[in-house]
This record gives sequence, C-alpha cells and structure tokens, in this order.
Amino acid sequence: MKPENEMRAAFPSASANEGLARAVVAAFVAQADPTVAELADIKTAVSEAVTNCIVHAYRDTLGTVYITAKLWGDGTLQIKVRDKGCGIADVKRAMEPLFTTGGEERAGLGFAVMQSFMDRVQVRSKPGAGTTVTLQKKLARRPPNG
Ligand SMILES: Nc1ncnc2c1ncn2[C@@H]1O[C@H](COP(=O)(O)OP(=O)(O)O)[C@@H](O)[C@H]1O
Ligand SMILES: [Mg+2]
Repeated sequence: MKPENEMRAAFPSASANEGLARAVVAAFVAQADPTVAELADIKTAVSEAVTNCIVHAYRDTLGTVYITAKLWGDGTLQIKVRDKGCGIADVKRAMEPLFTTGGEERAGLGFAVMQSFMDRVQVRSKPGAGTTVTLQKKLARRPPNG
C-alpha cells in the first residue's frame, strides 16, 4: 500500500545533528496527531539510532546519515535510519542489552531502548558497507475532538 506521506533527510554525522534528526522526525509525525507519549517514544528511538551512526558507524570520521519516514493511513509509521559506515559484524550480539563496543561511556542499551519504544526494530548491516535500522510503530488514530 502506498504511504499517505513520506519524507527524506540527509545530514553529516555531527553530534549537533542529533537534535536536528529528532526535530525533523517530530515535525513529520505531527500530522498524525500523536499522543505526547508516542511522540516522546519516537524521538527517543530516533535519537538512539542516529547517535549510533554518529558514534559507531562513523567513529573518528564524518559521514552522511540518511533518514526516511513514511506514514500510512492506518497510523503505521516507519522510519529508516541509514549510514554507510563501518557496519556491524554480528547484529544479533550487537542488539543484546548491555553489549557495547563503545567502552566506558556507552551503556549498550540503545537497541533495547528502540525495541521498548517502537513496535518493531529491524537491523540490516554489512561490515564495511553500512547499516540500516528500520523502526516501526502503529500510532493510535484518535477521532477529531476525541
Ligand atoms: N550504525 C551502527 N554502525 C556500526 N555499529 C553499530 C551501529 N549501531 C550499533 N552498533 C554496534 O552495536 C552496539 C550496541 O549498540 P547500542 O545498543 O546502541 O549500545 P551503545 O551505543 O551504548 O554501544 C554498539 O556498541 C556498536 O558496536
Ligand atoms: Mg547506542
């Protein structure tokens, strides 16, 4: 089925752009009239995915982070966060809570947070080529004035 609306954004993997990513996605999602809780969940999940591009995928370098978002008439929201960075050798292991290659400063909970705040999290990655994280959530469509 064709989405009701969609958008694309691309920006350098500078940490200043984590806030940009949250804001862009929030602005896109606003048309679906999300609840405050839904919006907070989505922004947090996007921010974890984008932070991973910045700190892991393009560690010690700058690259481009790509975001696409699609919204369907039934309230299904799909967001893809993609990088062309180092990739993940073992996705299953990377997604385990507390697993991190980031040393002391990282908690290893980014994927766990994404999974708890979104309905579905899918990770596709190829070492040396990059990673795509697909986040999906069904928004409760409220009746007008409801
Ligand atoms: N976009 C990415 N590119 C390369 N590696 C990634 C990416 N996202 C996650 N990873 C790997 O998965 C691990 C777990 O990620 P996450 O759960 O967010 O925890 P943290 O970021 O605290 O390490 C990271 O430490 C890193 O090794
Ligand atoms: Mg992380």
